[in-house]
Amino acid sequence: MAVREICRLPGDQVLRQKAKRVPAVDGSIQSLIDDMVETMRQRDGVGLAAPQIGVSLRVVVVQLPDEAEPLVLVNPEIVKRSGQREVVEACLSVPGYAGDIKRSVSVTVKGWDRRGKSVRIKATGLKAQALEHELDHLNGVLFIDHVESPDGLHRVGTEAEADGM
Ligand code: NI
Repeated sequence: MAVREICRLPGDQVLRQKAKRVPAVDGSIQSLIDDMVETMRQRDGVGLAAPQIGVSLRVVVVQLPDEAEPLVLVNPEIVKRSGQREVVEACLSVPGYAGDIKRSVSVTVKGWDRRGKSVRIKATGLKAQALEHELDHLNGVLFIDHVESPDGLHRVGTEAEADGM
């Protein structure tokens, strides 16, 4: 396992690309997953998407501070969203900013786990937010794209108040 460098705006174009589907989960995908988990933990993030470490593939990891194990999803798709809530969101790839945006209260996501087995996950609150955020990364979308009001984007210090993802 290795901690990888995080791609950032404005320089890293990979953040704006649509990531490719993973054809099959093999050893290289499993080591990508290990590196993503290690990098997320090292940065105290609650989630990470493969494009954030420069790999344009549809893989995400999410782990809330109170959870023992990361949720790993390969080729994830949101199949259901419900409710709406306002959140303050930040991203490890957009350092120094946080934004007021709207996210779903709950989402259902399907995909493969780290062994390539089909899974279906229902999540609420911060976990739903992190999943929507990471799945956005797979389509080249960043939280700043969801900020609606001119006052909705804030400068924050290095210790961001919002969870990094
Ligand atoms: Ni992010």
